[in-house]
Amino acid sequence: MSIASAARVVIDLDVPGPTISRHLYGHFAEHLGRCIYGGFYVGEDSELPHEGGIRLDVVEALRALQIPNLRWPGGCFADEYHWQDGIGPKADRPSMINTHWGNVEENNHFGTHEFMALCELLGADPYVNGNVGSGTVQEMSEWVEYLTRDGDSPMVRRRKANGRDEPWKVPFWGIGNEAWGCGGNMRAEAYADLARRYATFCRDHGDNKLYRIAAGAADDDLAWTEALMKAISCLGCGRDPKNIFQAVSFHYYTVAGTWENKGSATDFDLADYYRTIIKAQDIERVIRGHSAVMDAYDPERKVGLVLDEWGTWWDVEPGTNPGFLFQQNAMRDALVASLHFDVFHRHAERLVMANIAQTVNVLQAMLLTDDDDGLVRTPTYHVFEMNKGHHDAVSVPVHVVEQPAPYELDGERMELVSASASVKDGRALISISNLDPVASLDVVLDLRGAEIREPSGRLLTASKPQAYNTVGEPGAVAPVRLRVEPEPRGLRVTLPPHSFATVSSAI
Ligand code: AHR
Repeated sequence: MSIASAARVVIDLDVPGPTISRHLYGHFAEHLGRCIYGGFYVGEDSELPHEGGIRLDVVEALRALQIPNLRWPGGCFADEYHWQDGIGPKADRPSMINTHWGNVEENNHFGTHEFMALCELLGADPYVNGNVGSGTVQEMSEWVEYLTRDGDSPMVRRRKANGRDEPWKVPFWGIGNEAWGCGGNMRAEAYADLARRYATFCRDHGDNKLYRIAAGAADDDLAWTEALMKAISCLGCGRDPKNIFQAVSFHYYTVAGTWENKGSATDFDLADYYRTIIKAQDIERVIRGHSAVMDAYDPERKVGLVLDEWGTWWDVEPGTNPGFLFQQNAMRDALVASLHFDVFHRHAERLVMANIAQTVNVLQAMLLTDDDDGLVRTPTYHVFEMNKGHHDAVSVPVHVVEQPAPYELDGERMELVSASASVKDGRALISISNLDPVASLDVVLDLRGAEIREPSGRLLTASKPQAYNTVGEPGAVAPVRLRVEPEPRGLRVTLPPHSFATVSSAI
């Protein structure tokens, strides 16, 4: 017997809120497991279709997501990466040991030129993360010069000798990563001083303007954010806080169990499901906390908040290298993504960028690739694709005025409905998730402030929250058409249990 509940969602289509930066849909590719090697990059001798060693089926699948930016080379790897080892003829590039991720040998065949070529193929802006933990100021400064300077200079001559005459555009630059941990085990104030120093020597060459992002907190470590904000502020002295670095980051992973026992991506029960959604919904409290700290130092909101790592983190798939962080991706992961985006849209005034960890074969990936052939689009991929109409759209207020009572587990509440909406180019896009794993949801979308015309809907769901896609069954979790019916004040849709939907309409 199916259980049904009801919700009423009021959407003010004529009340513009902050613009939802497309960069909230950013990505992350680290030299970790099979993200770069085997995922994005198969090498020039591969029999798979490739361009300069970059796997073209992966590029084609990702182009449909309109990836706005790609962060590279880490993560923890960024703070042991020396960029000069990854340029020039491949045979001459020295190897290193990737000490963070599996202790495997890294041959540096995927380096600066390969990354920039990948960004060009994807149409994504590069977000390069520099090395503070084990690199020098000079090394970082020269990397910026190598990438972005025009005319003639020592680094420009090296770039040209390696086959690239024109400088590239690099809008985003990371000053280290997780400096409190793998990036150097620093104290907040010590790192804040280093961030100021490194950022100073990451120059704007010509018309390339860097958006420098300081390595931020883990989860809700607000003291870290405060140390960074203090480092670029002098309350009352009138100096623009944007002068040294322009944003601070933080990382938030949905780990539903403990770090030692994170749980399986596909073998879970209802209590695990609830725990996961509760942990994912907590991102809103964490964003509010960082924003409040930033508001105290930067009330005009000139400094950006960047969530440059987020997503689910499960135990690795049985039989795979524990250092490679390879996990399956189920309908539950898709809902974690959809509710994160609703939160991002609500906080778009301060939160300017977010990067899912990671794009291919690592953690909450869009794509899982086979070594020889085959590629699977995960349920999470479909959420990114269904939501892409929100890129650079104007958010509008959404009020869930009637909904089923929240679920309670160990004193924590889980909301069963999540929604957000935006307007762009004469169209409204509404995203709505029924997080209830057992009951369907009849939703009235009470649309105010604009006439709607020719609405249509798409639905992502599956037989159970544990469902996932495989090479043999790639469409087990894939979007289908959603029936949208007119209502006196708007529209009505019925969402099955554990489902995500988008409703789009001309206005
Ligand atoms: O995304 C995997 C790792 O998680 C990153 O390298 C690190 O920054 C974080 O701890």
